[in-house]
Amino acid sequence: MCGIVGYVGKQQAAPVILEGLRRLEYRGYDSAGITVLRDKGVETRKKKGKIDEGLAKLLVAEPLLGVIGIGHTRWATHGPPSDENSHPHYDESGKIAVVHNGVIENYDRLKEQFKGHTFKSSTDTEVLAHLIGHHYDLLKSESKTAHPLTKGDTHPLAQAVMNALREVIGAYGIAVVCSDFPDVMIGARRGSPLIVGVGQGENFLASDATAIASHTREVIYLNDYDVVTLTADRFNVANLGNDTARVQISKLEFDAAATERGNFPHFMLKEIFEQPRTVENAMRGRIDHDEATSKFGGLNMTLAELREVDHIVIPACGTSWHAALIGEYLFEEFAHIPTEIEYASEFRYRNAPIEKHTLVLVITQSGETADTLAGLRESKRRGHKVLSICNVVGSTIARESDGGIYLHAGPEIGVASTKAFTSQVTVLTLLALLMGRIRMLSNSQGAQIIRALEAIPKQMESILAQNEAIRRIALKYASAEDFFFLGRQYNFPAALEGALKLKEISYIHAEGYPAAEMKHGPIAMIDEKTPTVFIIPNDPLYEKTFSNLEEIKARKGPIIAIATEGNDKISKKVDDVIFIPPTIEPLNPLLAALPLQLLSYHIAVARGCDVDKPRNLAKSVTVE
Ligand code: AGP
Repeated sequence: MCGIVGYVGKQQAAPVILEGLRRLEYRGYDSAGITVLRDKGVETRKKKGKIDEGLAKLLVAEPLLGVIGIGHTRWATHGPPSDENSHPHYDESGKIAVVHNGVIENYDRLKEQFKGHTFKSSTDTEVLAHLIGHHYDLLKSESKTAHPLTKGDTHPLAQAVMNALREVIGAYGIAVVCSDFPDVMIGARRGSPLIVGVGQGENFLASDATAIASHTREVIYLNDYDVVTLTADRFNVANLGNDTARVQISKLEFDAAATERGNFPHFMLKEIFEQPRTVENAMRGRIDHDEATSKFGGLNMTLAELREVDHIVIPACGTSWHAALIGEYLFEEFAHIPTEIEYASEFRYRNAPIEKHTLVLVITQSGETADTLAGLRESKRRGHKVLSICNVVGSTIARESDGGIYLHAGPEIGVASTKAFTSQVTVLTLLALLMGRIRMLSNSQGAQIIRALEAIPKQMESILAQNEAIRRIALKYASAEDFFFLGRQYNFPAALEGALKLKEISYIHAEGYPAAEMKHGPIAMIDEKTPTVFIIPNDPLYEKTFSNLEEIKARKGPIIAIATEGNDKISKKVDDVIFIPPTIEPLNPLLAALPLQLLSYHIAVARGCDVDKPRNLAKSVTVE
């Protein structure tokens, strides 16, 4: 999950690339580097650490001049974060520079053919660079290829890249330059996203559109096995596989302000506060009040096909997996459809029996998660229709699904997913409503769900107004080293999500459980230093959940309760309580999510953690 930016045109390349890398830092921030081509040579600056702490300072001290270049911000897969392991990497000759997002699985075997070579890093990418250099040397010795890019001919550098990639096993999104060709840049992808930005007298490569949207709105989403040759005013796409390259220029719908922090100290807090609007966006145009149902434009499935669905399988990862778990309760309650949630990384290798009328529904914010993409491809390989719920328009999963639903939540920059989660749950609620209303869910039941859903944005506003009170509660527990999050039914996945939020931004160990499950072992962990967050709204199981709360209380465990407004009894029982407005049982997670997000956010800030770029993480996990 690294970020790649390439530029060829009239401007100085380094500032354009640096700005793009900053916008991609959420994809990885262990180290960063830029190479530019100038007067028959490559010149590079690269440094361990986040861009503003390393590379940016280096570029101020030693500017890079040149109008063509490639850059990279890294999430380490092979080799620890270090200056030497930072990208770009070079071939043996030092003429060819490569940046790479992905994993070269057979790099060890490939490296064996270069016994006499000097390797400066422990990365798989450097082996790829040497492999490209090796094929370039072979071409130079074998052919008199015409150097200038002429229509129909494959540029020698592109040919060398293609020949090298045919030996590669694994996933890649790469950009390549060579000092023999000071006006040419090559891009290629398989399994890791890469787009071409088409400018006026300049062209771009980037891992995603956020890096180049301020320069051009015309983009080409490269497909797997595509290899693109770029100069300042031309591009040519070839395909390594059997397909001919399908080149389609798309118009970017992009709100650049959405990628700015505004007055917020962190993207995560900004995105937490966007949720009343993003939940509205997820509903917009999708509610049919007359029929008390929902409607979607992009499912590409008729109501008759949807009615035939007798089993739903949802592969997903992380927070999306938690949203999927809520989806399981929703589909089974609203539509009585047996639903299974799968970790995508397990699903792709299991031989799960999937019958003819099974609907595979993948859920992903980024649309690039390698495990989820693999689950989609495995399902399609078996002939199943695959729908996706995704936030990034034009992402690989969105493009490879047979149909789908966009979240319309806008770019989610914070590594910890917040607004995407509540938008996923909103979309799942609407989809379950649709599936229910073409089965046995009545008009009045549908209308009740719609009424409750449409009240959520305003109810979220009232919770966000408690931010300062929640911050004060969070500060009381910021030094804890272990946390439990408990809930029943719809609130159990919310408990899992609360635990993940805390873990990934504050580095505190946290576990989520069904509240009743604590008795079966985990309660042994409870003591006065181990806080438990109970999600205990007014719902049919309130009394049972309250008994579980008593069990924790009896063992002196500190308790933070997330409870329904007006429940005065609970305040006497727990150490702290955060109230949420009343809603129907299936929608409680939408409201409980906000206190959970804010608690984690404020604890992480109090612990001095980098909330938007937590250690070891990246926003889009495009490696398996
Ligand atoms: C959630 O806060 C994490 N960033 C992570 O678990 C994430 O949800 C997971 O990697 C799945 O990402 P996706 O939704 O983009 O597929």
